[in-house]
Amino acid sequence: MDHRVLSRLAAPAVAALLALTTGCTGETVQGRPGASGVRDPFFPKAGNGGYQVEHYSLDLDYDPADGQLHGTAVITARAEQGLSSFNLDLSGLDVEGVWVQDEGARFNRTGNELTVRPAEDLERGEVFRTEVDYSGRPRPVTDPDGSQEGWIATPDDAGAVGVGEPVGSMAWFPGNHHPSDKATYDITVTVPKGYEAVANGELRSRTQEDDGRTVFAWHSAEPMASYLATVAVGKFKVTTGRTASGIPVYSAVARGETAGEAAIARLPEMVEWGIGRFGPYPFSATGATVLPAGTLRYALETQTRPVFSGAPGSAELVLHELAHQWFGDSVSPKSWKDMWLNEGFATYAEWLWSEDHGGPSAQQHFDAYLDGDTEVDAGAGSDWDAFPPAAPPGPKEISASPVYGRGAMVLQRVRQEVGDEKFFALVRGWAADHRHGNASTADFTAYAQQKTGHDLREVWDEWLYGKGRPKAPKTPKAPEASTTP
Ligand code: ARG
Ligand code: ZN
Repeated sequence: MDHRVLSRLAAPAVAALLALTTGCTGETVQGRPGASGVRDPFFPKAGNGGYQVEHYSLDLDYDPADGQLHGTAVITARAEQGLSSFNLDLSGLDVEGVWVQDEGARFNRTGNELTVRPAEDLERGEVFRTEVDYSGRPRPVTDPDGSQEGWIATPDDAGAVGVGEPVGSMAWFPGNHHPSDKATYDITVTVPKGYEAVANGELRSRTQEDDGRTVFAWHSAEPMASYLATVAVGKFKVTTGRTASGIPVYSAVARGETAGEAAIARLPEMVEWGIGRFGPYPFSATGATVLPAGTLRYALETQTRPVFSGAPGSAELVLHELAHQWFGDSVSPKSWKDMWLNEGFATYAEWLWSEDHGGPSAQQHFDAYLDGDTEVDAGAGSDWDAFPPAAPPGPKEISASPVYGRGAMVLQRVRQEVGDEKFFALVRGWAADHRHGNASTADFTAYAQQKTGHDLREVWDEWLYGKGRPKAPKTPKAPEASTTP
């Protein structure tokens, strides 16, 4: 056995390893290749097996003038098996070198898989450091539903954004790109003079280089799924402050998007409202990034700092992305099939915000869907009953209307069955018990039954898993809607 391996292991581990190895051949335990995906039902190649990342340290250098990115990713991970090789997900870009435990490693690339073969096998339980140096022009990734993610230049070509739901983060940094592997992050971005760089978490430092370039060092102290990582480069107006309970706010609005400032002005108040409804805010920072209009066709709940493309069109949209901080970002899905746990909750949060601020109640939103009343809720006119929220037909449908609208209806059905007190205890308990973790639909249904003491199988069968339009609920509907011909 090579003592470079021994020197990395704690004494009890060495003893255990020697007992294991010398008993048979006297040679090092052989690692085997880590899997190239975590078998997500919709994105089977997303993520990688055999290790879990603890921390990403991304050092990025981006020049909007030529679209070139230079990156160094230092990934600290724990081996979950003996590893002779392991994979990272990376799309496009040139890999200039890979080091594992400071030793040059061999690597090759096939599709979006970067396979790394360390000079020495990694032992199960070992915490190891991988450095990847890479560069090139990062590209957008087209989702199964046709929308764009990955790395996207702003329409004025004066900036760019990295976004990653569901699989776009592989376009701008190598990683274990599946929500089941959450890690902390340091994202450091160097940009030309006059540009700002915004990422997740807290801005630790902003320093000027001798050549005029600016280095922004962002730190995410709480675990984050890689699809929620973001970097925005551009010319922004930055606003900082604190919410009433003291959470630091950092918001950046693209110059020219002045309406964006007013649109996100209520964010601190919304955070406090969310704390009242859902329990403690899960992160040590909040804020928003408003990109130049037309950069993206959607908003995204990037952790601590959701991104909007142009001024958000409604308070509900801001609230939606904020609600994801509890539901999606802190409590993340175990697989992409569980997306309704993100979107159903975030949509329900919009209904609750409306209910608490003099608008239609959640029950009225629910009724509007049943009646197709688009005056009360624009989503009511969509094909929300096209498929059951817990069973999207495929990856193309994970962001489709039933995942949002009917997902929220599932929650209203639960509220109808158990009453307000138990319902809000359930919502808060769910956020608390799975804080900074991952959960599946089965985890939710089991938790809801256990927490409320109600048998909710009819709700699950009919609303969560049932095909076709669910039967109208037993509870009385709004009087004007209950007149039958
Ligand atoms: N999760 C985002 C939201 O609800 C929407 C992402 C849309 N992505 C897509 N591929 N359609 O705010
Ligand atoms: Zn959403």
